[in-house]
Amino acid sequence: MQDGKRHLILIGFMGTGKSTVGKAVAELLQVPWRDTDLSLETEWGHSIPEYFKRYGENAFRQAETGMLAKCLAEKPAVITTGGGIVLHPGNRDLMIQNGYVIHLQADANTIIKRVKQDDPKRPLLAGNQVEKKVQELMQEREGYYDFADFTIDTTASSLQKIINEVVQYWQKQAV
Ligand code: S3P
Repeated sequence: MQDGKRHLILIGFMGTGKSTVGKAVAELLQVPWRDTDLSLETEWGHSIPEYFKRYGENAFRQAETGMLAKCLAEKPAVITTGGGIVLHPGNRDLMIQNGYVIHLQADANTIIKRVKQDDPKRPLLAGNQVEKKVQELMQEREGYYDFADFTIDTTASSLQKIINEVVQYWQKQAV
């Protein structure tokens, strides 16, 4: 294991399965699971859409950076993150220095299908034209996830297969 890289961190666009995969991996590896979005919601006592409505995206990004730093300072964990955490260069540095960063990716059509099935919990995709919003955001964020140590394409993969790939990757780093 490399110096400083204590955590397993999942990044990726909305709808790539970070939280579902991370929670399952943490259970298998018997380490804590921390999710930056869920931790913020617990701290605030209200949802992310509510926070966006009250304070806006910039305030959310600052809170997200604070929560990331908090999670990284704790004992080794599987940390799952919001899709936009990679926008801030400081966040990217923090993640790559403190953990093995795995990027879960999927193609636009798969993401559109998945986010439409979810509850309306994503302020950036609220309202109509989900397809257009996903495509635009994916374009804007092109390259932002490339700093990861390892990338898994989840497009045509089963949940079990993705979980296995993450665990295998982690075990290779741990020897
Ligand atoms: C966001 C993704 C969301 C959440 C917030 C903003 C983004 O997390 O952090 O709505 O900017 O991509 P998920 O990736 O878990 O949906």
